[in-house]
Amino acid sequence: MCGIVGAVAQRNITPILLEGLRRLEYRGYDSAGIAVLDRGRVGLRRAVGKVAQLEAKLAVDPLNGQLGIAHTRWATHGGVTEANAHPHVSGDRVAVIHNGIIENYEPLKAELQAKGYVFKSETDTEVIAHLVHDNLKQGVGLAEAVREAVRRFTGAYAIVVFDAQAPDRFVVARIASPLVIGLGFGENFVASDVSALLPVTQRFIYMEEGDIAEITREAVYIFGADGHKRERKVHDIAQRPEAAEKGQYRHFMLKEIFEQPEALVATLGGRIANHHVLPESLGPRAAELLGRARNIHIVACGTSYHAGLVAKYWIEELARLPCSVELASEYRYRTVNVPADTLFVTLSQSGETADTLAALRYARHAGYVALLTICNSAQSSMVRESDLVMLTHAGPEIGVASTKAFTTQLLAVLIVAAMLGRYNGLSKEQEAEVVRQLYSAAGTVEKALEMDPAIQKLAELFVEKHHTLFLGRGPMFPVALEGALKLKEISYIHAEGYAAGELKHGPLALIDEDMPVVVVAPNNDLLDKLKSNIQVVRARGGQLFVMADVATGLTDEPGTTVIPMPHADTYIAPIVYTVPLQLLAYHVAVLKGTDVDQPRNLAKSVTVE
Ligand code: G6P
Repeated sequence: MCGIVGAVAQRNITPILLEGLRRLEYRGYDSAGIAVLDRGRVGLRRAVGKVAQLEAKLAVDPLNGQLGIAHTRWATHGGVTEANAHPHVSGDRVAVIHNGIIENYEPLKAELQAKGYVFKSETDTEVIAHLVHDNLKQGVGLAEAVREAVRRFTGAYAIVVFDAQAPDRFVVARIASPLVIGLGFGENFVASDVSALLPVTQRFIYMEEGDIAEITREAVYIFGADGHKRERKVHDIAQRPEAAEKGQYRHFMLKEIFEQPEALVATLGGRIANHHVLPESLGPRAAELLGRARNIHIVACGTSYHAGLVAKYWIEELARLPCSVELASEYRYRTVNVPADTLFVTLSQSGETADTLAALRYARHAGYVALLTICNSAQSSMVRESDLVMLTHAGPEIGVASTKAFTTQLLAVLIVAAMLGRYNGLSKEQEAEVVRQLYSAAGTVEKALEMDPAIQKLAELFVEKHHTLFLGRGPMFPVALEGALKLKEISYIHAEGYAAGELKHGPLALIDEDMPVVVVAPNNDLLDKLKSNIQVVRARGGQLFVMADVATGLTDEPGTTVIPMPHADTYIAPIVYTVPLQLLAYHVAVLKGTDVDQPRNLAKSVTVE
């Protein structure tokens, strides 16, 4: 949610800020803005739309300076207008960018209005600018003015502020929303995540909860909320800047779909030896803590929640432990009963999703055996705040619709299910079979990717449709949910995923010759049941598209198109069958001409509620 970048240097920082915004655009992209201290004055340019719109403005009316901040917005308070775009400025002196929500902005606004401040936007952010300005008028330094301001805020925020009268520095502060400081030589930076700054530095300090930092060209001073100095570790990041670039692909999403085999191999690395999964790879105390678990609570959002739903099938089967899966936005606000010896698990691509992070913090005091996070971002808040961590090594995922992050999460939860199984009666032979299948996942996904031309052709039949149903049974039910989510988020076609057996309890009423029904049909022990469900749809004239293992014996018939799938073993079938559904959503979106990587109204990392 909202991308933030700031720089103080001895060179013109406008191009650095713009490149940072381009790299952060996946976080929000309804408007963008930049404020640069240009010849002693706050130069401000803002534009509704994408960063390209802002660039066009700057081409006509450039800014040049050595201190500046920039922002790409995902609107929360106030519509998508230029006046609501960040940065917000107070008294031609203080410029602010903000990610998050200041929940108590209304009383603060009233107080500042009473002091004569005139608000030009409908945002919560503008109170930050005026409050810091008001504090500066008392004669304190910028860091103190920001500390005094944030003391009064409730909510979640990452903010960056500069003062035209202190031209050598900016001040940053964070609660809940991520911020990272990039260290250069004679220049320093800040951003919402490292990808924004990779072209200028590989050295980073991750700000922690409540940290406030004063950043000049030569130095970074970090303070806790109490005003005392803090030491924070410097991390050297090996990530190549091009990992976050499209390369030969037309869209990030397609690149990321095709990166899945290598992402799966990377995620498997170090987790298995001699046909056994290695619980120790989750941390030094993992064996003891996993061994104690008698129940599992999984909490996540969006696509990660779907991975959690698949995990339930595997954990209950392989480890015979009761497992519940819940949306983080629900879990965090209800009374949760935690049975003795329950393991809490979060799944998150970013490790920063506000609801999931809040759930993790709630769980910290709810009496769990341990908190395990399965995450694709090694330095994220969730990783830092968990007892056990399993990293998925998918590499940066830029497309808003999650693809390789999801399939690597599936691989990770299958590994965790087998680990839990080790302490709960899973035989050595069964474990070795899961391991064999884990090893076969990348190769089978590679075969599924060869279906791309066929799926591209299939996509033509969906472009004019307004609705689509996705059906699956068992662990393929969450795969159907994920297929529907992919289609709706990038092609804007209304889609729903259903457990095939549930069809008769409502959605069957929707079936007619205009309704495509996509079925995922691996050759498993639910096949006969699924075949009956397919018959029921066919009898009502529905248009069926069945992704089926050749061994199922399903063939084309009037009203039914069978799309042959490579053979996938039972456990890895959810990973493999996800691939054609991703490709289908992708090609339908391309044919419809939507913005595939940045679909309307969505954002990649949802760091607000
Ligand atoms: C957003 C993204 C989804 C993602 C969800 C949860 O909605 O657009 O792709 O699944 O957040 O994010 P997380 O980072 O916690 O997996």
